[in-house]
Amino acid sequence: MNTNDNLMEKIVSLCKRRGFIFQSSEIYGGLSNTWDYGPFGVELKNNVKSAWWKANVYDRDDILGMDAAILMHPKVWEASGHVDNFYDLKSDCKSCKKRFKVADLKDPKRCPECKGELTQGRPFNLMFKTHQGPVEDGTGLIYLRPETAQGMFVNFLNILDSKHPKLPFGLAQIGKAFRNEVTPGNFTFRTREFEQMEIEYFVKPGEADKKLEEWIDYRFNWYLNLGIKKENLRKRPHTKDELAHYAKACTDIEYNFPFGWSELEGIANRTDFDLKQHAQVSQKELQYFDGTTKEKFYPYIIEPSGGVDRSVLAFLVDAYDEEKVKDDVRVVVKLNKDLAPIKVAVLPLLKNRPEIVELAKRIAKDLKKCFITVYDDTASIGKLYRRQDEVGTLYCVTVDVQSLEDKQVTVRDRDTMLQDRIGIDNLKKYLWEKLNS
Ligand code: GAP
Repeated sequence: MNTNDNLMEKIVSLCKRRGFIFQSSEIYGGLSNTWDYGPFGVELKNNVKSAWWKANVYDRDDILGMDAAILMHPKVWEASGHVDNFYDLKSDCKSCKKRFKVADLKDPKRCPECKGELTQGRPFNLMFKTHQGPVEDGTGLIYLRPETAQGMFVNFLNILDSKHPKLPFGLAQIGKAFRNEVTPGNFTFRTREFEQMEIEYFVKPGEADKKLEEWIDYRFNWYLNLGIKKENLRKRPHTKDELAHYAKACTDIEYNFPFGWSELEGIANRTDFDLKQHAQVSQKELQYFDGTTKEKFYPYIIEPSGGVDRSVLAFLVDAYDEEKVKDDVRVVVKLNKDLAPIKVAVLPLLKNRPEIVELAKRIAKDLKKCFITVYDDTASIGKLYRRQDEVGTLYCVTVDVQSLEDKQVTVRDRDTMLQDRIGIDNLKKYLWEKLNS
């Protein structure tokens, strides 16, 4: 069924209705473009992060995990070039007073909304500033990090000294980043506070081009393996004038969002820019010593850098479906089994029969030992199924009158809606096989 009409509105509404994502500080009128993840949202987000960590840290032998602090020495951002180069040009409309990012404008002189005259583009640094300590006279000026990457670069020496890894090797980190975006929007797509999943992969300079291509494919396939439809995903190499100040080459993985093809992740060749800069500013030796060739050099860095919030949004949009069932429409979120917030829901067919309720609760308690399971008896069975479909629950287990006698329950598959009658003793094994197949 065609679901593209008003798809974003439907997603935003579903997110609020079912507890995925709420407007921040809503009771105070909301903080614009800032979002809170609710009970199902936090599960989905954690599952996306776990899937990323598994594919990039646990399943490989060449990547080490890290978790650096958000606050860093201000010199980090001078060395990285963010103080001088991390700008957007902004332009204001003299008539309607709206503010625009110059890069988004078709005509840099005319307001796209009211056709009024626009001011000259003025640079606007995207880093959030704050003060460390009780004095606000500028001496304690620090920044909220605009990328997690620098936390890994400044720990390069610590990693070499503590783990002695051989090239090529990488560091992986998931964490919050902050950018004072000129034009945030499109729900959680562009916000001022967001979460990144980044890898800094250190390679011999001569191998950088090849490793860049390998990483582009590896990361592209990660999205496909988690269920993103192939026709909704593409690779887009950057043109020279798009490249960040530190990059020699970059390819974006883009998703076909309802508002158009947009970046999910960028995979860049950062060369030896960052290590050289930090070595120069910190006056520390940050070269790698190759024990075989006895050479000392700055490794190049291949950086796959994705957004948690953008991935969550893409997975939700891609999984959203509307199916015609008799005279009704079934909204179902067909999230991949590793991403679905809830794996199993146990539902009593009749909540006014204490024996059924008691048996259903006992089954749910037992299943919780193995799977993320919920028990729900707050509505009629039809409504309970619909609610579970909308949050992507993979299996619904229904306990009915017959269950009291034959010790069997009905298991309904989210995607096919087919039902199996399964013995309670066999239920865990049945679900385990389904969820791990
Ligand atoms: N360390 C490289 C770097 O930060 P980037 O392309 O600026 O590169 C990487 O950001 C990823 O972070 C993007 O592909 C996107 O998924 C996410 N991201 C960047 N800015 C964002 C924002 N304002 N809101 C949400 N996600 C953002």
